[in-house]
Formats: sequence, structure tokens, C-alpha cells
Amino acid sequence: MSKITCIVLAAGQGTRMRSRRPKVLFDLMGKPLIVRLMKSLLDGPPMSFVVVVGHEAETVQEALKEAFPRKKFTYALQNKQKGTGHAVATARTRVPRSSSTVVVVNGDIPLLTSGSMRKLTERHKREGAALTLATTHLDGHAGYGRVLRKSSGTVMGIREERDCSPREFEIRELNAGLYCFSRRFLDANVARLASRNDQNEFYLTDLVEMASMSTGLPVADVEIPGTEVKGVNDRKELTELEEILLDRIRGRIMAAGVTMRMPGSIWIDETVEVGADATIGPRVVLSGKTVIGKGCTIGTGCVLTDTRVEDGAVLEPYCVTEEAVVRARAIVGPFARLRPGSDVGREAQVGNFVELKKTVLGEGSKANHLSYLGDGVIGRNVNVGAGTIFCNYDGFNKHNTVLEDDVFIGSDSQMVAPVTVGKGSYVASGSTITGDVPPDSLALARARQVVKKGRASMLRQLLKSKSEPGEPKKKRRRRRRRRKSAKTS
Ligand code: UD1
Ligand code: MG
Repeated sequence: MSKITCIVLAAGQGTRMRSRRPKVLFDLMGKPLIVRLMKSLLDGPPMSFVVVVGHEAETVQEALKEAFPRKKFTYALQNKQKGTGHAVATARTRVPRSSSTVVVVNGDIPLLTSGSMRKLTERHKREGAALTLATTHLDGHAGYGRVLRKSSGTVMGIREERDCSPREFEIRELNAGLYCFSRRFLDANVARLASRNDQNEFYLTDLVEMASMSTGLPVADVEIPGTEVKGVNDRKELTELEEILLDRIRGRIMAAGVTMRMPGSIWIDETVEVGADATIGPRVVLSGKTVIGKGCTIGTGCVLTDTRVEDGAVLEPYCVTEEAVVRARAIVGPFARLRPGSDVGREAQVGNFVELKKTVLGEGSKANHLSYLGDGVIGRNVNVGAGTIFCNYDGFNKHNTVLEDDVFIGSDSQMVAPVTVGKGSYVASGSTITGDVPPDSLALARARQVVKKGRASMLRQLLKSKSEPGEPKKKRRRRRRRRKSAKTS
């Protein structure tokens, strides 16, 4: 059994979020706040965990079970949320006997890193402290407890903002919401907390003053970057945390040799990987399991979800892709859409306003303009002309189109699936292909052209006389109506 137990406070409703959903379950870039925090804690020093739940307790427990199916957390139920001190008092009996150290962490600081947690427990051990407090400095300090120090510099207490005097209010050193206690000190004092404050709550923070006054053991402190311990108390703070997290992800990716243009405008999920020498343009969104290879270019405004882009491929601006593969040195876009199951071959090209769905485009093949290619298998060196449509759906079922290697599809053609065009064949422009075309053939499926010389001017005369310009509109309409009724009677 581990010697450190960590009590995670997650019972509060988070009134300032103005939601029925418990605050710790709010989503931060794809993961609930509490899941993010637990992940960092699990990566930190070895500890056992007691999670205090209360508001929507079962939902919180379920979320943790789903995220960490193999981990066993102990839960303590705080039926009424009477403050952070009360929450710790509720959890205390669940702390194993063998634990001589108890860490307490607020459940609403999801960006805490395992490194800072280690720093806290190591300092606590080195100082042999009754309590080690994590402090921080932040630009905005609204809502945070202020750290009070003696003239000697040692910490002597925490004043919650709403209980601050005007002078205390100005203090910039803040309580981060993360503490390390000696088990003995915690056991002896947590039940002594009172609720004589503005909120009539039992404040865990009052233990700091008690430790500074009553024990022979020191009160230690450790400063932690504000970006790690910024709490989420309302929706604005949630977006601020999103920005901090994105900045961390972008920083890691740039450090790995990736160029980003206007990095502040780029969204990258932490699950995304980008190879060295890739360039990411402004306002790009890379999400899910997207992997970008070395030396790729992802143009302005592209949105990629679960997409693999292999080395040297180029996505011109404004492409939207999902569950797709773009192989080495292929060129896609601008304005292309790759739907699930699209596979653009090596050095292949997909141009503007082309949509692929469940379609493999072979090596070196091109579909450069205005096409819909759904449920297709396209071989190598195939040219798909502008405006080609794979008619894959009959209202009930989807059917496949196969274009074998070296096929040439003339512009504005339709492939009425199921249909196969054999190797090396040509399909004439404007054809509607309804049957298979054998290899090395020319398929024409359109009406033969008829030309009538001199007819243009005759036609123009005829049309002109019918339109009778100059006649008032009303009169013309009346005459037309009269003619119509004469015909029908
Ligand atoms: C708390 C600190 C404040 C500190 C700030 C840092 C206290 C009294 N104040 O304020 O000094 O600067 O965190 O983020 O501790 N919770 C329970 N049960 C309860 C009440 C709260 O489990 O009865 C949980 C909440 O779910 C939350 C955490 O404790 O995860 C902190 O509560 P919150 O209300 O956010 O405290 P703050 O006002 O932010
Ligand atoms: Mg808070």
C-alpha cells in the first residue's frame, strides 16, 4: 500500500457554471476536467486515491470508471457540500492506515502536471512539514484565497477573497488549491474547523493558520506556475484553460520542428502527431487521431479529423477530411472534401470541389475539378475529368464503380454503378455509362450531335417576333391569357 494518499475534491456542483452538470465533468478539449486531473495524478508520485463525490456522485464515478477501467479509486460520499474542509473530513476515514502523508487537491484544476505534484511531495518530505502549501501567481486573481505571510516570510494563513480586508485583497500570491499534509496533523485538526466565515462553510484553508500557530512542525510552501493551477469556476475560465492547453500542445509540436503560421489560430488536439518540417497554416483544425507526416503542408483553414497524411503531401487551403488517408506527395485541394474511407494514393491529385467517399484513388491518378466519387476503386494513372459523378446510390443500396489503371474519363460523365471501366479505356465527355466497358475501349454514351447551318438567325427572328417588345406588359399578358383560353375551349 502506498504511503501517500491523495484526496481529490469533486463533490461540488460548481454553481458559477450555471449548469445541472457537475463542474468536474465539463469537457476540456475532449476530456472531462476530473479525468484530465486524475491522469496527471496517476503519472505523478505513487499514491492511492480517495475521490470525494456528492453532487451527481454516480455520474462522476461512472466517468472515472469509463476513463480508467483498470484503476480502483476509493470514493467518499459528501451528501451536503459544506465546504472543502468538510469534504476532507468526510474522506479522512477512507485514508488507509499506512498513509503517513495526505495530499489534497481541488478537482477543478485539470492542468496540474505530474512534475508539480512531485515537487510538492518532495518539498513536504524534505521539510518534515505539518503542511506544505502550493501557491501561485496569476494575472487575474479574482476568487482565489490570498496567501498571508509573517514578516519572517513563512506562511501564516489563507484568507478567502470574500473575507479579505482591502489590504489583503491586494495580495497577489494565491492559494493554488493543492496541499500536502502530515497525516497526524490532518487527523488532529480537520474536525476542529469552524464555519465562521462569509459563506458559513468549513474552509480547508483554515488549516494553514492552525498549522502555523499550533504545531512545532514547519509550514512549507512551493510555487507552481499559474497556468497549471488555474481553476475552472465559470465558463469563461473554461475557455481560458482551453487556450493554455492549446498553447502547451502547440509549443510541444513546434519544438519538434514544425512551422506554424499564426499559431494562436490553430487548434490541435493533444492526440495529434505532426512530423518534422511540416508547415501548418492559419486557422487549421487538427483533431482526433490525425497524424501528419514529415514535410507536409496543411494550408489555411483545413479541418482534419482522424486523418493520416503521409510524408511530403500537400493539402491546399480549406480542405475538410475525416477518417481519410492522403499518401506520400499527394496534392489535395483547395476546397476538397475527403469523407470516411477516402484513400488518396501516392502523388495523386484531388482538386477543388471534389468529394471522395469510401473511394481509393490510385497512385498518380487525378480528379482535379468538381466531382463526386463515392464507393469507388480507381487504379493508377487514371484521369477523372471535371464534373464526373459516380452515381452510387439507387435509393436503397450503394454500388461500386471501378476504374482500372490508365483509364481516361472525359468531363461531365456519370458512372451509374455498379460499373467497371476496363484498363486503358476512354469514356467520352458527357457520357452516362450504365454498363461495363471492356479494357482498351472507347465508350460514348451521349446523343449524336446535329448541326443545322444558318438556323441560328432564323431562330433568333422567330424568338424576337414572339416577344413583341414595346407592347405594355399588362396588355401582353392579357393577350396571352385570351389565346390560352381559346385553345382550351
Ligand atoms: C478554493 C480555495 C481557494 C483557492 C481556490 C483555488 C477553499 C475554501 N478555497 O476556492 O483558497 O484559491 O480553491 O482553486 O478551499 N468541493 C467539494 N465539496 C465541497 C466544496 C467544494 O468537494 O463542499 C470541491 C469542488 O468540487 C471543487 C473543489 O472542492 O472541485 C474546490 O471548490 P471551489 O468551490 O471551486 O473552491 P474555490 O472557491 O475555487
Ligand atoms: Mg475552484
